[in-house]
Amino acid sequence: MPGSSSNNTNTFDVLILGAGAAGLTCARECAARGRRTLVIDHGDAPGNKIRISGGGKCNCTNTGASASDYHCANPHFVKSALAQYTPYDFIDFMQRHSLPVRDMGQGMLFSDRAKDVAEALHREALSMGAEFSLGTEIRAAAKDGDGFRVDTDRGVFSGASLVLALGGPSWPQVGATGLGYALAERFGLRSTGRRPGLVPLLAGPDLAPLCKEMTGASLPVRIAPDTGHYASEGSMLFTHRGVSGPAVLNASLFWREGQTLSIDLLPGVDVAQALEASPRMELKNVLGTLLPKRLAGWLCARYRWDGPAANLSKKRLVGMEAALHGFEFTPSGTAGYAKAEVTLGGVDTDRVSSKTMEAKKVPGLFCVGELLDVTGKLGGYNLQWAWSSGFAAGQWA
Ligand code: FDA
Repeated sequence: MPGSSSNNTNTFDVLILGAGAAGLTCARECAARGRRTLVIDHGDAPGNKIRISGGGKCNCTNTGASASDYHCANPHFVKSALAQYTPYDFIDFMQRHSLPVRDMGQGMLFSDRAKDVAEALHREALSMGAEFSLGTEIRAAAKDGDGFRVDTDRGVFSGASLVLALGGPSWPQVGATGLGYALAERFGLRSTGRRPGLVPLLAGPDLAPLCKEMTGASLPVRIAPDTGHYASEGSMLFTHRGVSGPAVLNASLFWREGQTLSIDLLPGVDVAQALEASPRMELKNVLGTLLPKRLAGWLCARYRWDGPAANLSKKRLVGMEAALHGFEFTPSGTAGYAKAEVTLGGVDTDRVSSKTMEAKKVPGLFCVGELLDVTGKLGGYNLQWAWSSGFAAGQWA
């Protein structure tokens, strides 16, 4: 166990705080360069967030990952790291460990068991010579001469380089905390505003009863904010407190408090044509062929759409199309960090080199992974960012 015995036992070339996706990748690379590397984490096992990713199957990368898949104040920041370590490099890693990758469409690659991915990363870092101090409480980190010192409940460690790979506070159930931001700030690295991302949205009092009644039902939608150019497509799932599902989780990346979202409940469907095709049918029944029946019934009651389709006036048809293609939903909030897959915002990328992940004004200090103001959409982009940024820092730390 590092930190337990003599003289230089506690002196390393590289100290990495955080044994998550980014920290493990960085550790492997540093150790492979012959750097004496120590990874410190308070978890008893490395890669705890990897293990729960993708419902335990881990959507480990996306073959289409590019800068446009990420939210970051500097939209070019991710380019260099993504080019240095691509999704195909990660596929090579999986093949080296005989771990299958399953193509689930839209570039999304899943492992069979996320646990195997975490363990393979750990094994590979160990085989390169990286050392680990798990179950270790980090108390402080500071500059120490030309290097850094980290105080823990297992002693003080010194390193010529320090890598902050502590992630964000999303999903605290697996040991996520905001310590990384606090440490970064101590080194003068400010953070951009942080909030839960890839998170379910809660319904206000007007729509809460509908969501509760519809719990478990899902439908394909397109969600756009009332201003801005983003849109998110995919399935929306009703929950007892609001809405979730891929389209909603992605919408949470651009939604802001108080904003109304416009939800197209029938993307690509020509409502007028559907009504024309069944002129004698009750509106509720026509809509019931296009939407979940309970939702169709609720909409008809809310907007007083009744009678046969053929009786609908032109004016009311226009109103119906507007309501169905632009259903207004003003979330009362998000389900919070406990249910958020990521933390939006983070260490300001203006202060960090996009090529090396080194702090521009603090030589030897590196920030990687979710800790940075880089957030990917749903679909394997966040883990790819962790691998790529960890790899980039691993060439220089
Ligand atoms: P990560 O959080 O992995 O690592 C940080 C490490 O620091 C942890 O090991 C933690 O224990 C340690 N640490 C934190 N605070 C500490 C402290 N105070 N003291 C000591 N150690 C401390 N992404 C994706 O691409 N595909 C997917 O399928 C999913 N699925 C998914 C599901 C769920 C439920 C969640 C919560 C998240 C995902 N993600 C995902 C997101 C993805 O898991 C996430 O972006 C990366 O794991 C981030 O990697 P990092 O290494 O940056 O942080």
